[in-house]
Amino acid sequence: MNHIDPTRFREVLGQYPTGVVVVTANDAAGEPIGMTVGSFTSVSMDPPLVAFLPSKTSSSWRALRESGDSFCINVLGAGQEDLCRAVAMRKTDKFAGFALRESPAGNPVMDGAVVWIDCVTEQVHPGGDHDIVVGRVLGLDHGSPDQPLLFFRGGYGSFTPLSLASGDTDLLGHLAEIDLARPHMEALADKFDTEVTAIALVKDELVLAAAAGRTDIAVAPTRVGQRLPFIPPIGSCFAAWGDIALRAKWVESVADMLNDEQMDVLRQVPDLVRDRGYAVAIGHQAGAQLELVATRINAGDPEVPSSSMREAFFKALDGYNQLEEPDDVELRSLSAPVFDASGRVAYMLTMWGRWERVTSTEVHDRVDALCATAAAATQAIANR
Ligand SMILES: Cc1cc2nc3c(=O)[nH]c(=O)nc-3n(C[C@H](O)[C@H](O)[C@H](O)COP(=O)(O)O)c2cc1C
Repeated sequence: MNHIDPTRFREVLGQYPTGVVVVTANDAAGEPIGMTVGSFTSVSMDPPLVAFLPSKTSSSWRALRESGDSFCINVLGAGQEDLCRAVAMRKTDKFAGFALRESPAGNPVMDGAVVWIDCVTEQVHPGGDHDIVVGRVLGLDHGSPDQPLLFFRGGYGSFTPLSLASGDTDLLGHLAEIDLARPHMEALADKFDTEVTAIALVKDELVLAAAAGRTDIAVAPTRVGQRLPFIPPIGSCFAAWGDIALRAKWVESVADMLNDEQMDVLRQVPDLVRDRGYAVAIGHQAGAQLELVATRINAGDPEVPSSSMREAFFKALDGYNQLEEPDDVELRSLSAPVFDASGRVAYMLTMWGRWERVTSTEVHDRVDALCATAAAATQAIANR
């Protein structure tokens, strides 16, 4: 038989994420007892069975077993790490300071648990140094609307949709920075009755990481999670305040699609945007088409070849960052950079137009408000 080193076993199996439950019951004196468990699983629908795997040497499991057949599974919420830790400790008054109520079967239900499941022990099977406890479900319900607490690689966390997470630790840092700007984004969106979004540059992609205000302006159901390649005309704020290499990368990425004259115009865009302090896009049709194509490609639509993304970008190019000041135009979007503590662009804020024509005075009003919001967001990161 192969010897598997226990540390290696634990480390490798730790790559598998689990939820966290607290198994509760009452002892003979009517006091709550419990155990923190990651090995909870559903087993069967008909009959309704669930299971968890306590260590044979666990004193908490012994106490639960001695208390009788009845127990309750409490699926912990993302904010209940303290409860998880308290119940996992070897002590008697594990529940001191935590609010609980009684389940229909008389078991403790923890306030803040996402789900509770009343069970009666059906079978206890041996499983090496653990037992496999199968419980028949007597009753169950949702509790708190929170996200569940997750346990992974020895740490705690909560769920993020794949389009935003996908292993981007870079993006997670940006999300924390963007979160600081939420109230400012909401206020700006309210003021102009529109949508304000935060877009981060993660590796070679622009990721729409947060949205505030009206979301019915977008062509796609929601723009959050949308990924677009970092190529002109999108993302000019990153090129404008980026280093020479980033600028060159952005400009030259479309060199195969443009003639020399067009490239000369494009090469001036980063300086133009930087001098103005903001980026501007006009014309709804081409912009909306770009958004639609990107949404369908991101969704894996087989009828939209990825080459159509570059075509859509190419068609939208003229509407972005024109030399003349915008006046009486279909304002599609205005964007301004938010800086991190080291002075690099953390993300850009974009305020969307509402499919109407606007005068240069209106454009200026919006630019002023957007730049003030971006400055407040920069300050929020600095104050952190
Ligand atoms: C997130 C998490 C998950 C756990 N999952 C299990 C488990 O599935 N089975 C188990 O026996 N112990 C598990 N434990 C350990 C027990 O909660 C507890 O710490 C241990 O049983 C303490 O020993 P005692 O029961 O003798 O007090 C887990 C602990 C934590 C923090």
